[in-house]
Amino acid sequence: MPSVIQVVNLTKTVRTAASEPLTILDGVSLSIAQGESVAIVGASGSGKTTLLSLLAGLDTPTSGTIHLDGLPVHDQDEDARAALRAGRVGFVFQSFQLLTGFTALENVMLPCELAGQKDARAKATAALEAVGLGARLTHYPQQLSGGEQQRVALARAFAGEPKILFADEPTGNLDTATGGKIIEQLFALNHERNATLVLVTHDEALAARCSRVLRLRDGRLDA
Ligand SMILES: Nc1ncnc2c1ncn2[C@@H]1O[C@H](COP(=O)(O)OP(=O)(O)OP(=O)(O)O)[C@@H](O)[C@H]1O
Ligand SMILES: [Mg+2]
Repeated sequence: MPSVIQVVNLTKTVRTAASEPLTILDGVSLSIAQGESVAIVGASGSGKTTLLSLLAGLDTPTSGTIHLDGLPVHDQDEDARAALRAGRVGFVFQSFQLLTGFTALENVMLPCELAGQKDARAKATAALEAVGLGARLTHYPQQLSGGEQQRVALARAFAGEPKILFADEPTGNLDTATGGKIIEQLFALNHERNATLVLVTHDEALAARCSRVLRLRDGRLDA
């Protein structure tokens, strides 16, 4: 099966106030096939969010290679990475990152519009209805609860029907019932459209539903 995500010997080092650079990811290699569901687990600070951002082309590695859909993302500039992500990748951030000056509907429409999809409003409305926010379309993020903001972020990630969906703690702020519904929606995308799911989670039950679990320890993948 062809890999939709191919990573070889990925390293991320950052400069900090300390004299020695900090190694966040150290020699990570992995391969994910189209339609797989993969959970990334590990202790706080083990590098999960950093790895997810690199896989999605939101950040660039210090060394190593990343191919998405066979295309290199590791050595591309921000514009080229954005073009590569558009219409292909959906991302749910741990901190939601909704745009405060835009309503829920506008936040969800934006990536569809950027990807050049014509029916952005209809798709965004349907995605918000699917996460139970049909009555909150014109609310601004600051007028929404934490869990509602998380659901807007999820709707934004899957409204454009991406081929690969990355989600960082997608149910972290939700009660069990709401979280369960969101998980059903993520796996429905996975089963019905063969979308690839890559989730970071501390939730063992969610991890167990994925076809594979990758464990990070101090920036390295367990064998
Ligand atoms: N830009 C940065 N500069 C310096 N240190 C960073 C930077 N980004 C991340 N780190 C450090 O790298 C480590 C990994 O961070 P990361 O956010 O990937 O962890 P995580 O596994 O997602 O943790 P959590 O479960 O708490 O979300 C942390 O120790 C963090 O402090
Ligand atoms: Mg994190």
